[in-house]
Amino acid sequence: METPVHDVIIVGGGIAGFATALALHRLGVKSTVIEESEECRVAGSALSIWSNAWRALETLGVADSLRNQFTKLSGMDLLRNDGSLIKSLNFSEGSRDIELRELERKALVEALCNPLPDDQVVYGSRVVSVKQLEGGYTEVHCEGGQTMHTKVLIGCDGVGSVVAKWMNMKEPRYAGYVATRGIAEYPDGHNLGDRAKQILGSGVRAAFLPMNANKVYWVVVFNSSGTV
Ligand SMILES: Cc1cc2nc3c(=O)[nH]c(=O)nc-3n(C[C@H](O)[C@H](O)[C@H](O)COP(=O)(O)OP(=O)(O)OC[C@H]3O[C@@H](n4cnc5c(N)ncnc54)[C@H](O)[C@@H]3O)c2cc1C
Ligand SMILES: *[C@@H]1O[C@H](CO)[C@@H](O)[C@H](O)[C@H]1NC(C)=O
Ligand SMILES: *[C@@H]1O[C@H](CO)[C@@H](O)[C@H](O)[C@H]1NC(C)=O
Repeated sequence: METPVHDVIIVGGGIAGFATALALHRLGVKSTVIEESEECRVAGSALSIWSNAWRALETLGVADSLRNQFTKLSGMDLLRNDGSLIKSLNFSEGSRDIELRELERKALVEALCNPLPDDQVVYGSRVVSVKQLEGGYTEVHCEGGQTMHTKVLIGCDGVGSVVAKWMNMKEPRYAGYVATRGIAEYPDGHNLGDRAKQILGSGVRAAFLPMNANKVYWVVVFNSSGTV
């Protein structure tokens, strides 16, 4: 059987992979996303999305539906671990207007992947190696023996990327801390309003970030040798 030839292969269907595929789709360029999981990985809790990311989401045409679901934060209080105030930040003051919203990862990933034509995402396929061929094509090998040729290869396969390794990029480096994240649900509403709180301790940081009227994103980041 002849090896299929693609214009653009994107390895990894995460936030970067789907955003890249959607950007190309909006420009009329067909790409193929290869994702190792059997379906769209909507797991996770939430992410802080700032002004520059909103400009990117606007260009992709998905900003408004996400803005409707998540509240724009008006500011953030930085506190000591005894609860006393270090500084109160106001996100819209004078000429400054910072747009920060806490997005549920599921909503963000779905907003990026749902507009893509079904035949542009291949699930359940893990890229194991890449090879440059004579004549400009790149060969992509998947677990199970499937092989594809592509004119353009884009690596969006996250930390431990097979594509980055093939490009001789450095191994990921452990940064010295670990984060635990979650979403707290308040069916009757929480009392944080539209302001976030961040508590700065010694070797530990915690934050409570309102997502909308009923959900709060929480994060605890602590120094660790990495053996937890
Ligand atoms: C399931 C999940 C939940 C997360 N939850 C949060 C969160 O709650 N809060 C937060 O701040 N960050 C979270 N993150 C991290 C955050 O999404 C990423 O760090 C950031 O968005 C960078 O995105 P990325 O697209 O570069 O990488 P990732 O989001 O890591 O996406 C990489 C994708 O590539 C796929 N992949 C990897 N190797 C291969 C391969 N060889 N072949 C085929 N596919 C491959 C992976 O399955 C994954 O879907 C989460 C990541 C994941 C994968
Ligand atoms: C932030 O600044 C704006 C503009 O000066 C002001 O209207 C608003 O009340 C301020 N918010 C807080 C919480 O201080
Ligand atoms: C925690 O880790 C950060 C980053 O490595 C470091 O700058 C800081 O000094 C550490 N704090 C403590 C209390 O260990």
